[in-house]
Amino acid sequence: MERLDKILASQGVGTRSEVRKMIWSGKVTVDGAVCLAADQKLEPSEHGIAVCGNLICYKKHLYIMMNKPDGVVSASNDSHVRTVIDILPSDLRRKGLFPVGRLDKDTTGLLIITDDGAFAHSVMSPGKKVFKTYRVSLDGALSESGIGLLCGGVMIDGNEKCLPAQVAVLDEGNFIYQIKICEGKYHQVKRMAQAVGRRVLSLERTAVGGLALDGTLERGGARELTECEKLLLTSDS
Ligand code: URA
Repeated sequence: MERLDKILASQGVGTRSEVRKMIWSGKVTVDGAVCLAADQKLEPSEHGIAVCGNLICYKKHLYIMMNKPDGVVSASNDSHVRTVIDILPSDLRRKGLFPVGRLDKDTTGLLIITDDGAFAHSVMSPGKKVFKTYRVSLDGALSESGIGLLCGGVMIDGNEKCLPAQVAVLDEGNFIYQIKICEGKYHQVKRMAQAVGRRVLSLERTAVGGLALDGTLERGGARELTECEKLLLTSDS
């Protein structure tokens, strides 16, 4: 059981003090009856709570797919630069959201955002072996030996060994590759490319586990994941 004001604030209706004012001014009903008690305790999934006549569709957690654009940082807040949380549409905003793992500011593509810590751990922990797939544009071709090193687990910066990656050629003439990794070391793909003598020109994450980026989602767009998509995240890619 939770307090009514806490339930409404958790659903992004407003801040705790804003929702209290709504309750006190009679804008909130529970099962059709006005409730003036902000501290009223109830089980949110068992009652119809409405604000100004609009029923709240209670969700304990949110699970969001974003097509991350270039130029925003994967963080919950940053006083200088726009974050992926800042660009969420208003209907997907609520307290406690954070990106599941980080993409560099200039990396685009599939980013999961949630407020469910256990779920984030199940996707990002290296022990879970969830592969992240990247479309990588390089400044030149990978040699056979370079591909061999990446697939065997390349050493980056002379002292950090990566787990074996999977590498496929997507467009030989334009030096575009698909690289799959199951860890999230800092700048990992860029440093892996550097370790085999190449520079990353652009990087897009196209899948996490068995979940591919929704091609109809414009850059910067975000939408909720379906239940099925949530399962795909931790399934084999
Ligand atoms: N590897 C990188 O180098 N950058 C990212 O954003 C993700 C993986």
